[in-house]
Amino acid sequence: MKKIFVVGITGASGAVYGVRLVQQMLLHDYKVHLIVTEAGWQVFREELEWDTSDRDAVIQEHFPSVNGELHYHTLRDFTAPVASGSYRSDAMVILPCSMGTMSGIAHGASGNLLERTADVMLKEGKKLVIVPRETPLNVIQLENMTKLAQAGARIVPAMPGYYHKPRTMDDIINFVVGKVLDTLDVPHELFRRWGE
Ligand SMILES: Cc1cc2nc3c(=O)[nH]c(=O)nc-3n(C[C@H](O)[C@H](O)[C@H](O)COP(=O)(O)O)c2cc1C
Repeated sequence: MKKIFVVGITGASGAVYGVRLVQQMLLHDYKVHLIVTEAGWQVFREELEWDTSDRDAVIQEHFPSVNGELHYHTLRDFTAPVASGSYRSDAMVILPCSMGTMSGIAHGASGNLLERTADVMLKEGKKLVIVPRETPLNVIQLENMTKLAQAGARIVPAMPGYYHKPRTMDDIINFVVGKVLDTLDVPHELFRRWGE
C-alpha cells in the first residue's frame, strides 16, 4: 500500500525546508497531506517572496505531484481524514516547527488541524517528527521538547552539519531535509553520507 505522510509547515523560519520536504516526497509514489498554519503562509511571503493571494494556485505551482499525490487541508478543517485516529497515515513531520505550535502539541491543545493531527499521531503511537527552529531556546521551549520526546515524538532540530562540506545554501537545506527523510526511511540523494 502507498505510504501516507502528513507534513505540517508552521510560521517558524525555514519555510524552504518544509517546501523541499514535500517536493521530495512527491517524487515518490506517496500520498502527502499538507497543512500550513496562517503564520506559515506569512513566512512563505516573507522568506520565499511568494505571492500567496491565491493559495490554491501556490499549492499547484510549488508542489507538483510528480509521482505522488498531494492533499492540502486548511487549518480549520477538522473533517480532514488526518484528524481521525482511524485514518491510516504512516507518519507526520512538522517542518519547520514554531515554538507556539510545539507548545500547543506538548500541552494537547489540538487548537487547529495541525495540532490535532500531531495529537492523533501521538495517541495512536505513530511516528511524529518535530523539527523545531528557534535560537536561543528558553527553558519553557526545552521542557516542551523533552515532554514531546517523552511522549514518543522524534525531535530533529534544523541543525545543519558541515562535515559533508556544503558549498551552497542548497547543500545546507538538503542536509536538514535529508536528515528528516532518513527518519522516515524515504530514499534520497540529498547529501553525501559519511564514508561514501
Ligand atoms: C519571518 C518570520 C520568522 C519567524 N521565525 C520564527 C522561528 O524561527 N521560530 C518560532 O518559533 N517563531 C518564529 N516566528 C514567529 C511565529 O510565526 C509566531 O510565533 C506564530 O504565532 C507561530 O504560529 P504557528 O505555530 O501557528 O505557525 C517567525 C515569524 C516570522 C514572520
